[in-house]
Amino acid sequence: MTANAASHVGTIVLLGAPGAGKGTQARLIAEHYGIPHVSTGDILRENVAEGTELGRKAKAVMERGDLVSDDLVNGMVADRLARPDCARGVILDGFPRTTAQAEWLDRDLAQRRERPPVVVNVEVGYNQLLQRLTGRRTCPVDGQIYNIHFQPPKKEGVCDVCGAPLVQRKDDKEEVISERLKSYERQTLPLAEYYRARGRLRRIQGDLPVQQVMTEIFRAIEGSAAATGTE
Ligand code: AP5
Repeated sequence: MTANAASHVGTIVLLGAPGAGKGTQARLIAEHYGIPHVSTGDILRENVAEGTELGRKAKAVMERGDLVSDDLVNGMVADRLARPDCARGVILDGFPRTTAQAEWLDRDLAQRRERPPVVVNVEVGYNQLLQRLTGRRTCPVDGQIYNIHFQPPKKEGVCDVCGAPLVQRKDDKEEVISERLKSYERQTLPLAEYYRARGRLRRIQGDLPVQQVMTEIFRAIEGSAAATGTE
């Protein structure tokens, strides 16, 4: 699979626990292949901030660390995937998150005569996840992700790229984090088995430095493309 502007990339799914580094890696992959980074968490947070009907339905659920309903999320993703910028491919971050969402995605891709997704599972231990989530800071303007322990901005509390003050996500409070990790174990971990059984799962050790994780993810994506005979 090459990164030139004309080639078809297809659908790449990043699986992993809260804090595994899906958002960090998805931004890098999207830039490399020139395809959109579609984060269901980001789209939901935008809807909450704008006070849309979807945002009003999702707000309380997100604040207690539960998952938003499959119907709402599938509909939101269907709208996003129908946009022309997704024609060459897309990187999905935070979707699918339940087996019902994965089944919906398979049906949607088949209806559009697209290949099944390449699925990369980013695996990180529990203690590292906690440190990453409690230390995360994000830029509300351009979405850059930092970490006070592992990837601090050059100037404390300020985005390196645009200079905006960094913020902490509401769901990164310790009590909400533990609910999010429980939801992950209950509803999202079984997805790894769903994809493994279909021969699509690529496992990546995620508790390495960002650049090393990125190299491993590219290797997994290129390996999957070679295995299915795509460019
Ligand atoms: P979402 O926004 O998707 O959150 P999440 O899955 O909990 O994942 P995070 O964004 O917390 O972590 P990440 O893996 O992206 O890690 P990051 O790169 O930021 O979802 C939020 C909520 O929305 C859900 O709880 C749910 O309510 C709802 N929702 C979303 N999608 C849904 C769906 N499909 N169905 C139903 N509900 C849905 O990295 C974390 C930190 O670690 C950062 O500080 C980063 O700098 C640092 N870091 C990253 N990589 C490394 C590294 N290699 N070494 C050291 N530090 C690193």
